[in-house]
Amino acid sequence: RQPVDSPLYPLLESAAGYYRQALKGHPARKAAVEYLKGRGLSGIIARDFGLGFAPPGWDNLMKHLGSDALQQKAMIDAGLLIENAETGRSYDRFRDRVMFPIRDSRGRVIAFGGRVLGDDKPKYLNSPETPVFHKGQELYGLYEARKANRDLDEIMVVEGYMDVIALAQQGLRNAVATLGTATSDEHLKRLFRIVPSVLFCFDGDAAGRKAAWRALESALPNLQDGRRARFLFLPEGEDPDTLVRSEGTDAFMARIQQHAQPLADYFFQQLTDEADPRSLEGKAHLATLAAPLIEKIPGANLRALMRQRLSEITGLHSEAVQQMSASSPNAA
Ligand code: GTP
Ligand code: MN
Ligand code: MN
Ligand code: MN
Ligand code: MN
Repeated sequence: RQPVDSPLYPLLESAAGYYRQALKGHPARKAAVEYLKGRGLSGIIARDFGLGFAPPGWDNLMKHLGSDALQQKAMIDAGLLIENAETGRSYDRFRDRVMFPIRDSRGRVIAFGGRVLGDDKPKYLNSPETPVFHKGQELYGLYEARKANRDLDEIMVVEGYMDVIALAQQGLRNAVATLGTATSDEHLKRLFRIVPSVLFCFDGDAAGRKAAWRALESALPNLQDGRRARFLFLPEGEDPDTLVRSEGTDAFMARIQQHAQPLADYFFQQLTDEADPRSLEGKAHLATLAAPLIEKIPGANLRALMRQRLSEITGLHSEAVQQMSASSPNAA
């Protein structure tokens, strides 16, 4: 999946070092420090996640890492510089941003996310795909979560960098974020190799709810018996960062304990919202929607139990439900 060795790794590590140093000592750092403090982050958390600062200006990093032609080419390959196609000149990709180094599972820096200090657009800038960075596979914070706790039993999947870091700041060091992409089959395979339980906790908005259903779809083919996925839906307008900071760790943990919804519950709740099982037509529609999804589950027990639930709701025989999905054009 990733090259074992690449000159891009030490280059990205040097860049991370530069950004970290800039957060500590660059003359323009004050705004970044204030920004992070304003978001409730301590120096300890900034250090644990290797947060940095890309100062304003077009060539800070370029000058620091050396601007000879070979080095510039490597920095372009690493996504650190952008080459202007017309003039052939290069400039720093990340300028005047708080920097989040993205590490692979071995702790090597493979990319960056950068956030503006205010409300400018784009809010976040991510490294492009490079030979060492494939967005759809990586999970921000996974290395840090495992480092903090070698025997995790559940990993929480959230949307954003700041969610991961705010949770860690509050002592919840088991969160990871997808990098602006949907939760993929690869993400789930990775997570279930590490923990038997995954908790999805996306933003309390339409996008977050959509992301939850997509995560469910990716989770189904990875649900061997003994594994579980759960969903915590947040109040409208909240994300894990805002909520954990306003209500505190204990309340947030109690919320998980009381309101995290098992995948099967969320599954049937969502589908019965879509197809009203009070009418026969609704039941028929519900069975059509649910059966092919249930058949994706590799865990024989969970699959049987969910078929059973579907047959309880619809009145169709469990065997009929099973046959229907086998003959369905949508079946996987
Ligand atoms: P904060 O305002 O810092 O709390 O951000 P957030 O993490 O709550 O942002 P949001 O919920 O809007 O987005 C979640 C994640 O999507 C971010 O952490 C980014 O990874 C990604 N994202 C958000 N905005 C942008 C953007 O403008 N460009 C890109 N490339 N990614 C974004
Ligand atoms: Mn590759
Ligand atoms: Mn959002
Ligand atoms: Mn958010
Ligand atoms: Mn946020």
